[in-house]
Amino acid sequence: MKVAVIGTGHVGLVTAVTLAHLGHDVAGLDLDAEKIGVLAGGEAPFYEPGLLELLREGLASRHLTFGTSPAQMLPGAEVVFICVGTPADPDGEANLAAVENAAVDIANNADTGAVIVEKSTVPVATAERVLRTLHRERPGGTFHVVSNPEFLREGSAIHDALEPDRLLVGADDDFGLQSMRRLYSPLTSSGVRLIETDTRTAELSKHASNAFLAMKISYANAMARICELAGADVRAVTEVMGADPRIGPDFLDAGLGYGGYCFPKDVAAFERLAARLGYRFGLLTEVARINDEAINAALEKVQQVVWNPRGKRIAILGLAFKPGTDDVRLSPALTLAARLLALGAEVAGYDPEAGSNAKSALPDILVTADPYAAAEGAHAVVLATAWDEFRTLDLARLREVVSYPVIIDGRNALDSEALLAAGFEVHPVGRPSLKAAG
Ligand code: UDX
Repeated sequence: MKVAVIGTGHVGLVTAVTLAHLGHDVAGLDLDAEKIGVLAGGEAPFYEPGLLELLREGLASRHLTFGTSPAQMLPGAEVVFICVGTPADPDGEANLAAVENAAVDIANNADTGAVIVEKSTVPVATAERVLRTLHRERPGGTFHVVSNPEFLREGSAIHDALEPDRLLVGADDDFGLQSMRRLYSPLTSSGVRLIETDTRTAELSKHASNAFLAMKISYANAMARICELAGADVRAVTEVMGADPRIGPDFLDAGLGYGGYCFPKDVAAFERLAARLGYRFGLLTEVARINDEAINAALEKVQQVVWNPRGKRIAILGLAFKPGTDDVRLSPALTLAARLLALGAEVAGYDPEAGSNAKSALPDILVTADPYAAAEGAHAVVLATAWDEFRTLDLARLREVVSYPVIIDGRNALDSEALLAAGFEVHPVGRPSLKAAG
């Protein structure tokens, strides 16, 4: 099918390259001419495993083209995806200005009869607003608006797009639904389940899923606090919980909490949306509060060991909001770094992928080329993002470079016993601290 994708951020670009890989002809559009130039030249503007290969494959096969002009890129498209950003307003509500702008561009440039797909995470009833905008801008035009929320995780987004647990399409008319069935037939014919609902139900389902996952993480983090107070081990508690198939083992890792562009924003937006609809969703207030508390707990541990942070060097291992990405947006690691800097500490950080993004976001942090350089002269080392490479650190070398052998394992990613044997004092999450006797 002929497809256009408006917005080449994380969601839009992954959508574009994977649809091209499935054999569709995809036009990727963005206002940012520099980014479009980079993409057209076969380079990815951010790190995502498998993205570069599919981008180059699409360009080579000519299934994928990029441009900035709606007048050139939209005509002829049977399906137009809206993948623009929906940043949070100061009150937490999603800002839909870019979605409206995309709808105006579509009304003025796309063929009448096109199916417009809302992929960005948006409040309930946005599809109806998009449809109204299309009709306002193009009186007499025929458009079909469907909701097709993504469930892509950064770091495995290509896999999630090509082998999804489920596809969700919300449509209020049959033509829109039939078009989406056709678009995704390469996936559904290999067994992927397509759940079909109305647009409002689809929009709400995305919020419901993300908020539930955030709630699982906050539940584990609240458990961690209780385990610390009770002298129990949160890893065992969550293992017991997760063995029950009604709960499931995923998203129960206690640590510094969730970050990234989705969960914090989506939890706040869902709470605001519920309030606007007339429901007080206090559970979500607590989910966000417990998430903030996870950073406070790590900060308190640092202060317990170093006492006054002012003038002392603290090393932070891992700066991305999670392993497998170079994204630092709302990264708990950077929030912790900023809090330490505000207390006068000298913060040195290392990340396998996110170093330069971290430096741009927080210029006062010293970004190093390896973990040992970050730990040089440190009064405490905090493991903030659980990259695999930290599991094989040379502990003897680390012990030699630090000023004081203290590790705050903010993700329970390290072998506490091995650290203790190497001479470190260890403060994990939701488990007793370990310190050599005497
Ligand atoms: C998320 C959703 O998973 C995805 O379905 C949605 O479409 C977009 O938002 P993403 O933001 O890429 O994806 O990250 P995810 O892997 O879900 O992790 C989110 C955060 O939770 C990370 O900061 C991660 O470190 C943290 N996390 C995750 C935990 O603290 N504990 C866990 O057990 C799992």
